[in-house]
Amino acid sequence: MHATKAVLIIGGSGFIGTHLCQRLRDQYKVFATYHTRRIEIPGVSMIPMNVTNRNWVKRVIFTTRPDVIVYTAGSGDIRRAEADPHEAELVNTTGASTVSNTADLLQCRFIYLSNPYVFDGSKGNYHETDVVLPSTALGKCKVGMENFLKGKSLNQVIVRSSPVYGRGNGRKLTFLDSLRIRLDSQQRIELPTTEFHSFVPITALIDFLVRVVDSGIRHKVLHFGGLTKVTPYDFGLAFAKRFGYDPQYVLPITPKVERSSYGGESQFSDFSLNSSFIAQNMKVQPLLLEEGLDHFAQSLNTKKITLADSVNRR
Ligand SMILES: NC(=O)c1ccc[n+]([C@@H]2O[C@H](COP(=O)([O-])OP(=O)(O)OC[C@H]3O[C@@H](n4cnc5c(N)ncnc54)[C@H](OP(=O)(O)O)[C@@H]3O)[C@@H](O)[C@H]2O)c1
Repeated sequence: MHATKAVLIIGGSGFIGTHLCQRLRDQYKVFATYHTRRIEIPGVSMIPMNVTNRNWVKRVIFTTRPDVIVYTAGSGDIRRAEADPHEAELVNTTGASTVSNTADLLQCRFIYLSNPYVFDGSKGNYHETDVVLPSTALGKCKVGMENFLKGKSLNQVIVRSSPVYGRGNGRKLTFLDSLRIRLDSQQRIELPTTEFHSFVPITALIDFLVRVVDSGIRHKVLHFGGLTKVTPYDFGLAFAKRFGYDPQYVLPITPKVERSSYGGESQFSDFSLNSSFIAQNMKVQPLLLEEGLDHFAQSLNTKKITLADSVNRR
């Protein structure tokens, strides 16, 4: 019997939100929001929401009265945030703070999904206690919200996740969807070679988020990343080899075209996250890249993640 009974997922129509809805719906009463891409997920109550509409946000939260809110709204695309920093701030910071303030009124827990761009990318293997120094618009928005939460609420958990790979919900292609489509049709794909990340499969992140929802943990920052750090190009090659595609279709983006996110001297940046805290304290086993790809393969074989089957598109 779970102490948590109702969960509200803000950004339930997104990549991470949809997977989370599917995992939580059997154990909890799940409410999820969409903004521009309405989807139907059986067993989940979908609600329209723009997080910039304060009155509506309050109304939804007071009506659904969740025990936990998971905030997965906003895009993880650093280029998009760079192109429109104002929009990124509205969703990642301003809207998120409205949701968190309302969550506090109901004493419900608030889980905020952050990312490694809160760091400057100069050294990698970042621990939860390392100094944050963002150099991107997205990183600045995330740090703004993290600071707001740390200063104001005791009911929050900040989960900083490394880039996640997995199948999307058919509404918007994920990085992995694009990679698979290109490789399937024997088209070349160019991937960056100077930014390192500790990529994680969506199945593993969702397992972890379910643990956080379940655990009652609060007032913590947690890192979730894999054990192997690679560039998107290395990841593309490993994926192609693991799934029997011809790796010659995966090409490096030449350094002239690619610009490092880290504004420092080095052309390389390293945003990998160290997950030893959750390994020691929550007995979560971080995965090597090969193990992560096995996880992904397993989810396809067991049809654990069957988004195309279970999400009815309108
Ligand atoms: N994907 C990753 O690798 C990764 C890794 C670490 C952290 N994160 C963080 O996790 C979050 C979700 O990532 P994702 O990859 O799942 O993104 P996504 O697929 O682009 O989903 C974004 C979600 O936010 C919603 N949204 C956008 N603007 C909104 C607004 N004004 N009001 C309410 N909802 C709004 C979208 O709704 P509609 O689609 O209906 O418009 C969608 O549900 C991001 O904050 C990202 O930084 C992602």
